[in-house]
Amino acid sequence: MTYDLIILGGGPAGYNAAERAAHNGMTVALFEERALGGVCLNEGCIPTKTLLNSAKIYESALHGDAFGVTVQGASIDHAKVVDRKDKVVKTLVGGVGAKMRGAKVKVITATAEITAKGPEGFTVEGGGEKICAAKLLICTGSEAAVPPIPGLREAVAAGLATTNREILDLRVVPKKLCVIGGGVIGLEMASYFATIGTEVTVVEMLDKIAGPTDRDISAILQKNLEKKGIKFLLGAGVCKVSGKAGAGVVECKKGDETITLDCDTILVSTGRRARTQGIGLEKMGVMCERGAIVTSECGRTSVPGIWAAGDVNGKSMLAHTAYREGEAAVNDMLGIKDRVDYRAIPAVIYTKPEIGTVGETLESAKKAGFNAKEETVSLRYSGRYIAEVEDGDGIVKIVTDADHGTILGVHMIGSYASEIIYGAAIMVAEERRFKDVQKIVFPHPTVCEVIREGMFMIK
Ligand code: NAI
Repeated sequence: MTYDLIILGGGPAGYNAAERAAHNGMTVALFEERALGGVCLNEGCIPTKTLLNSAKIYESALHGDAFGVTVQGASIDHAKVVDRKDKVVKTLVGGVGAKMRGAKVKVITATAEITAKGPEGFTVEGGGEKICAAKLLICTGSEAAVPPIPGLREAVAAGLATTNREILDLRVVPKKLCVIGGGVIGLEMASYFATIGTEVTVVEMLDKIAGPTDRDISAILQKNLEKKGIKFLLGAGVCKVSGKAGAGVVECKKGDETITLDCDTILVSTGRRARTQGIGLEKMGVMCERGAIVTSECGRTSVPGIWAAGDVNGKSMLAHTAYREGEAAVNDMLGIKDRVDYRAIPAVIYTKPEIGTVGETLESAKKAGFNAKEETVSLRYSGRYIAEVEDGDGIVKIVTDADHGTILGVHMIGSYASEIIYGAAIMVAEERRFKDVQKIVFPHPTVCEVIREGMFMIK
C-alpha cells in the first residue's frame, strides 16, 4: 500500500501533523506502538495536571480558614485520584482516535521501522504491515534518561525507582520519596506527593531548582515548596542507589560530604533523551547529534523526503513545541513557507504557585549580546491577586532591550501564570515594544494586569 506520508509516532507532533496533512489532501498512515497521544496524554502533561488539580482542591480544603471556609475531616484518596486520571487519559486518547478516524488517517498500532528506500519512496514495516510513502515524518519522541548511577538501573527494574511513567500509576502513597533531579518533572511530582502527605526530598546537582528558570523565580518557588515540607538538597549529585522495592537508600555527594537518604520510592527525573534507535535512521543516513535528529526550522532532516518533529529533535522537548513543529513540517511538505520561532516558546511549571516563562531571562539576554534590562513587579499590584491569595509572593519580570524597547522575555510566578504567559509569548514573538503594550487594554480585575502595569515602570 502506498501513502503520501507515513508518520512514525502518535504523540502531539505526530497526531497533529497527521490531521493537518490529511486535511490538506494527503493520504496518511501513522504508526504508534503504545497509545495515541504519546507521553503528553498518557504519562506526561495531562495525567500530572489531573493529579495536581486534585492536590489543589485538597489543599484549598485544608487551608480554607483564611478565606472563611472550614472543611471538617478533609482527606484525599490517592487511588481515586489515579482512577480519575485514567478516565481523563482514556477520554482524551479516545478523542485523538476519533480525530484520526475523522481525518481518514490509517493508524497502525505497532513499532515501525524504515526498512528500505526505492523508486516508490520509503518502505516502513511494523505489525505485519509493509507500506510505502514518498515522505516520512519522524515523531518518535523521547524517553526518561536513567543516568549511569551505580544501582539505579537495578532499582528501576526492582520497582524501587520509578520514572515519569510508573510514578503516575502508583496506587499506594509513598511515605518517603526521593526525587533525583529538581527540574520540571521532579518539581511537579514533588509538589503533588508533598501535598498529599509524602515526605519528599529533592536532590539536585545544580545550586538551584527549575533549571534555566530565572534565579529569583526559582528561589520563590523553592521557598513555597519548602513551606509544603519539601526538602531540597542542592549542589548534590546522587552517586549510589541500593535497596529493594519499598526500602531504598540514596547516597549523595555534596562537595566532600556524603549524605544518605532513606526512602521507600525514588523518582528519576534527570532529563529525557530522544528516541532515535531501532527505527532505521542509520540505514537511511539521517544525521543525529548528541542522540537527537538534526532538523531545520521547518523540520527537514539531512535526508530529502524525511522530516522530524517533537522531542526526537532534542530542541525544546515540550508538547506545544511538538505541535508547532509537526505543522511546520507538513507545511514544508506542501510547499507552504513556514518556520518555527524558537525565541517565543512559553514554558510552564504547574506547581503551586505556577511558573510561566517565555523568551530571554536577563542573564540569557546579556549572554546573547543584548543591552538588556529587567523590571520586576509584585503580583500584589493586582487586586484580584490580593483578593484570592493570602500572603502571596508572586512576581513578574519583564526583560527588555534597552536600545529598542522591545520585549525580550517575561517570567512570572503566581496564580494563572500558565494561562497568562501566551499573551507575553505574542509580545515576544511580534517584537512588541513596552510602549506598544501600554496602549493595550487588559481586563480588570485580573492578575495579567500586572504585566501592563510593569510596562509603565520601564524607563
Ligand atoms: P529537566 O531537564 O527539566 O531536569 C532534570 C534535572 O536533573 C536538572 O536540573 C539536572 O541538573 C538534574 N540532574 C541530572 N542528573 C542528576 C543527578 N545525578 N543528581 C541530581 N540531579 C541531577 O528534566 P525532567 O524534569 O526529567 O523533564 C524532562 C522533560 O520533560 C523536560 O524537557 C521538560 O521540559 C519536559 N516536561 C515539561 C513539563 C511542562 O511543560 N510542565 C512537565 C514535565 C516534563
